[in-house]
Amino acid sequence: MLRFETAGESHGEYLVATLTGLPAGVPVSLDAVNRELWRRQQGYGRGGRMKIETDRAEIVAGVRHSITIGSPVAILIRNADWKNWTEVLPVGQGQEEKKKPVTRPRPGHADLAGALKYGFHDARYILERASARETTARVAAGALAKALLAQFGIEVLSHVTAVGGVRLERRAAWEEIAALSRRGEVLLGCVDPETEARMKEVVDEAYRTGDTVGGVFEAVAHGVPPGLGSHITWDSRLDGRLAQAVVSIQAVKGVEIGDAGQGAASFGSAVQDTIHYHRQDRRFFRGANRAGGVEGGMTNGQDIVVRGFLKPISTLRRPLESVDLATREPALAAYERSDVCVVPAAGVIAEAMVAIVLAQAFLEKFGGDSLSETRRNYEGYLKQLEEF
Ligand SMILES: Cc1cc2nc3c(=O)[nH]c(=O)nc-3n(C[C@H](O)[C@H](O)[C@H](O)COP(=O)(O)O)c2cc1C
Repeated sequence: MLRFETAGESHGEYLVATLTGLPAGVPVSLDAVNRELWRRQQGYGRGGRMKIETDRAEIVAGVRHSITIGSPVAILIRNADWKNWTEVLPVGQGQEEKKKPVTRPRPGHADLAGALKYGFHDARYILERASARETTARVAAGALAKALLAQFGIEVLSHVTAVGGVRLERRAAWEEIAALSRRGEVLLGCVDPETEARMKEVVDEAYRTGDTVGGVFEAVAHGVPPGLGSHITWDSRLDGRLAQAVVSIQAVKGVEIGDAGQGAASFGSAVQDTIHYHRQDRRFFRGANRAGGVEGGMTNGQDIVVRGFLKPISTLRRPLESVDLATREPALAAYERSDVCVVPAAGVIAEAMVAIVLAQAFLEKFGGDSLSETRRNYEGYLKQLEEF
């Protein structure tokens, strides 16, 4: 069972990720982990924080001589901003006057519900953990899941299909998405330069007017064999697991697998992916991939396509109406330094989440305490498919 957890507050000393259940022998490159962290920090429309932080992972357990050794992997990412927060958020008692209380909860955030739930009259403790800074740790863990999947020719990448009302009006080929991931500058992560330029204009407008903007990313997994996940129980269905993983990303409010939205507005004859057989290659293939690579809760051998719909960032330079928790009087919501558009970053986070879910499903099916054992089991399955 592959499990992962994260810990850490947005302005705490470290973010922490642990990943337990990777087989021994998976090659791990710290550069590759750091490259993923870098990708998460990119995108046109990010706020000042990204200029302060250049995230670097420290692997402190579970990897020796550049391979996993079967024990839990622990990763630390230091918050560069901690130096400005040591007195605000000390682990010890600290001084009352150094606190930066948040008493005017921000609409669209965890602030009010969390303060009520935990009985804090200062939402600081809530927003510190609810912040998407936490996803840095997810991306680090996801990089290790990606390292496992890469051993079996499986890759997970993302691109942006909409920012505000500007949409990519065509499908992106895998090669285009792969080329995008190698680009030095991410901008808005769209495969079409003309559409990307229009997306940038929308972000510029949001900057100008003190507003924010959401959008849609698409995470795509390539090279996935058929048969991961299962049709037999609600909680083993891969579509459900992917949806949970992606909608758990801060600000993601909806998930679509394949062409779900379009399918709901079409007749059945126009939606299903027809089945064909290639005699020479002895393999099944499909007429299209509208299902997004999952049928009956299992991968069907096509690319997995999961879209995430992001609401516009809630923190606005022109704050919204709120109520002061201390006085109960109307007040404008608190303002914390904030991003304007995070769709490309959310796509990178979704890659990590999809990679973790796929690595879990992969290890459920093929198991193995060592990579060579996993590989033996996987190759046996490939033979089964070939001889089917
Ligand atoms: C990469 C990323 C960066 C984010 N940055 C901000 C930000 O700077 N300001 C903000 O108000 N919300 C930001 N968010 C969104 C909030 O974290 C999120 O809306 C909030 O925690 C409430 O959760 P919910 O929108 O999922 O309900 C970001 C989300 C992501 C994925």
